[in-house]
Amino acid sequence: MSDENNKHGPHTRLVHTASADPAYNKLVNPPIERASTMLFDKAEDLYAFTPGARYYGRQGTASQYALRKAIADMEGAAAVTLAPSGLAACTLPLLALSRPGGHMLISDSVYGPTRAFCDGVLRDQHGLGIEYFDPRIGADLAAHIRPETCVIFLESPGSLTFEINDLKEISKLAQARQIPTLIDNTWSAGWFLKPLALGIDYSLQAATKYHTGHSDVIMGSIAARTKEGGRVIADYARLTGNMVSPDDAWLVLRGMRTMGVRLERQAQSALDIARWLSAREDVAQVLHPALPEHPDHAIWKRDFNGASGLFGFILNDVPEESVLRFLDSLKLFGLGFSWGGYESLAIHCDPQIKRTARPWQAAGPLIRLSIGLEDKDDLIADLTAGLNTLTTP
Ligand SMILES: Cc1ncc(COP(=O)(O)O)c(C=O)c1O
Repeated sequence: MSDENNKHGPHTRLVHTASADPAYNKLVNPPIERASTMLFDKAEDLYAFTPGARYYGRQGTASQYALRKAIADMEGAAAVTLAPSGLAACTLPLLALSRPGGHMLISDSVYGPTRAFCDGVLRDQHGLGIEYFDPRIGADLAAHIRPETCVIFLESPGSLTFEINDLKEISKLAQARQIPTLIDNTWSAGWFLKPLALGIDYSLQAATKYHTGHSDVIMGSIAARTKEGGRVIADYARLTGNMVSPDDAWLVLRGMRTMGVRLERQAQSALDIARWLSAREDVAQVLHPALPEHPDHAIWKRDFNGASGLFGFILNDVPEESVLRFLDSLKLFGLGFSWGGYESLAIHCDPQIKRTARPWQAAGPLIRLSIGLEDKDDLIADLTAGLNTLTTP
């Protein structure tokens, strides 16, 4: 990105970052360069390891470089490492920052497979101490820090239960003790929240969701606040052979070009639908941080500049068969575990909620919606028909 692009607004930056580079040979987009073997002119070059020289396909080629640059620009990062999935974007830095005998503090609302990795690999295989904390703990997290604490892992909001972590308090106490902080920032896509500017060390993305936007690629990214922090992750990825394909990187970058406009529409529809749901008698509570009645609304307002298209709502207490009937009756909402794509999705969440620090308590079953690009009124009509099955089977 040119220095001049730094001065532009977010949409302009997203369009112009890593685009029309002289290396693209007059193309707007980077070429897809598929490579394992890269040839050298002379034998003496083979082990020269000249900075910037191309050696082997695992280093990446034009499209991976361009995607890293675009994500670094959006997150305000010193360096970005790409990972083969959003889950790998969480597990790779956790491994890179783990220490023998170490202790990690993890937000209790963290994505289920990240939690399974912490328990199954870091705790059971590597012997680390894994401690979950109440997502709303704020500055009281200090009491849980031990001399051997080597990571604080956040996810804000939690992608099922939508609590917001207090990034300012947590980054302050972590920095004072030089403990690296990581956040799964997929919900905001790096568009609505800039955690690195708030002092968090790593912003992790499942680029599978809003970046890609078309539900057809799996990818992750790790954006580092400092160059040194970025090097720790890039070295770990290199040593463990983690990389992404040039074709996938190209697709994610293509998706990113329209991410801003997609997100703005999805955000508006989601907020309108959330407001509509809050007025319904059959809904006990809506979990959308931009609604003033959300318990963390003040922190969300302080740190975020918008809300994406993913939110939850709690039905009045109804039996599971009614929840399944409601979901099965939806015609426009697909039933699927992902989110952030162009199409709307719905799931019920209770079977996958696992909590230990603060048990999940709600008046009834929790439904999660990912709002896509359809017309909002059509989505509301679909939900109305679905919710009506709760009372009139
Ligand atoms: C919050 C969150 N983080 C990470 C991931 C993992 O992303 P991926 O499916 O690309 O591994 C997901 C996927 O649903 C997610 O919801």
